[in-house]
Amino acid sequence: MAGTMQGKVAVISGGSTGVGRAVGAQLAENGAQVVLLARRADRLETAAREMAGPVLTIPTDVSSGDSVRAAFAQVEERFGRVDILVNSAGVARIRAIEETADEDIHACVGTNLLGPIHTIRSAVPLLRAAGGGDILNISSEITLDHMPLMAMYAASKHGLNGFTAAMHKELRGDGIRVALVILGSISDSAFIENFPGEDRQRAAPVWEADGYLTRVGAMKPLPSATVARVMVQLLATPPEVAQDVVHIRPAG
Ligand SMILES: NC(=O)c1ccc[n+]([C@@H]2O[C@H](COP(=O)([O-])OP(=O)(O)OC[C@H]3O[C@@H](n4cnc5c(N)ncnc54)[C@H](OP(=O)(O)O)[C@@H]3O)[C@@H](O)[C@H]2O)c1
Repeated sequence: MAGTMQGKVAVISGGSTGVGRAVGAQLAENGAQVVLLARRADRLETAAREMAGPVLTIPTDVSSGDSVRAAFAQVEERFGRVDILVNSAGVARIRAIEETADEDIHACVGTNLLGPIHTIRSAVPLLRAAGGGDILNISSEITLDHMPLMAMYAASKHGLNGFTAAMHKELRGDGIRVALVILGSISDSAFIENFPGEDRQRAAPVWEADGYLTRVGAMKPLPSATVARVMVQLLATPPEVAQDVVHIRPAG
């Protein structure tokens, strides 16, 4: 794979930790010019330092249209094109519906659904300028197997699934492949920071009663580097092949 991404510009939302960071590292290793977006500059800098080659970091809040527009204006000025957009930024909350604060709703819907809407809207002209390219939107197994106390996450990721399917149809004629990546659990990302101990403790008996912990919790979570390897392979498939829905999950 070395050098297979040479000359390509790859923008990764949520590129400072977890899956986004692992995809960024592997794309940089394969020669891509990588651009990492996330809110916290310190985490972006740490991630970029560990990647091969020059990596551009742009502190960005994907839930804000203005913040995303400003980020892509920088990308346009610097590179004039985008070949790959990976929407990995995502957050979740464990909440009963009546306890769900406005901030919880805005964080989940803003990051998981509005985020990819904002980034794709800004990226498409630059993907067209590159003559086509790839968009990977990262969704979750929660859209296949629901669990209680995670309704904002489920609703936002379902919205993302629908938006992705529509974008696949809207953009395929222009050589822009849009794929939905449905992920199972990851072992080494920062996602756990979404779930403080007391929330997890409260949720455990509810998830146990639902059967979720037996169905999914018993699986051995995948390292983000393994998931990233599959995603980079996806990006390397011949342009005439569409893999528009891909489910990446532990084998057992
Ligand atoms: N971890 C799992 O088990 C799992 C399972 C299924 C699906 N997924 C999905 O996989 C994706 C990656 O998850 P991960 O496990 O790699 O999570 P992670 O390590 O927590 O990474 C999340 C990234 O998103 C960024 N982010 C969060 N809110 C943002 C915002 N408003 N604007 C810009 N960036 C934002 C974070 O940086 P800042 O906080 O500094 O902004 C960070 O870079 C997510 O979409 C998640 O829903 C994860």
